[in-house]
Amino acid sequence: MSDCCHGTDNWEELERGYRAMLPADVLAFIDANRAKEHSESMLIATLHMVQGHFGHLGPGHLEAVAQLMQVPLAKVTGVATFYHYFRLQPRGRYLINVCLGTACYVKGAEKVAQKLTEELGIHFGETSKDGIFSLESTRCVGTCGLAPVVMIGDEVHGPLSPSQIPTLLEGYLARAAEDMMANSASEPK
Ligand code: FES
Repeated sequence: MSDCCHGTDNWEELERGYRAMLPADVLAFIDANRAKEHSESMLIATLHMVQGHFGHLGPGHLEAVAQLMQVPLAKVTGVATFYHYFRLQPRGRYLINVCLGTACYVKGAEKVAQKLTEELGIHFGETSKDGIFSLESTRCVGTCGLAPVVMIGDEVHGPLSPSQIPTLLEGYLARAAEDMMANSASEPK
């Protein structure tokens, strides 16, 4: 993959392909700022818009942003990987947010977090291979009386001990399997 291909004979064709990968509001933002100096903050704003649309930043999105903004791909990738709020993988069906606020922390949130990473086989910021779970951490979710707390989607679980994690995850796996079966049953034959 080259960092920039504006000098190539088929740039117009390539540009059409890159533009097809991004939503209209992002293209309008890039076009409006094309003549300006591309500061890092403008690049970050563009990546936020792309992530807001797709939920994550895939390799194709990064390449399209780099080419259309005329910024080296290495710089775009560097920014996307440096800031923790950018996601490079699609989010799983269920987002698990472990509260690491003070009340949860003193009640053992770290051990709960450790158990989750072991059970899921992923680190914070990652998505399980089956695409079911994404693991993230958060600060106080406002239910300190239930500490330590884990949010899965918009459901709050607490107080939780590490030994409860496998059963909790199994419940969501069963729910995901049921949803998938219901969806495949409703698909036209
Ligand atoms: S610190 Fe976890 S809910 Fe308040």
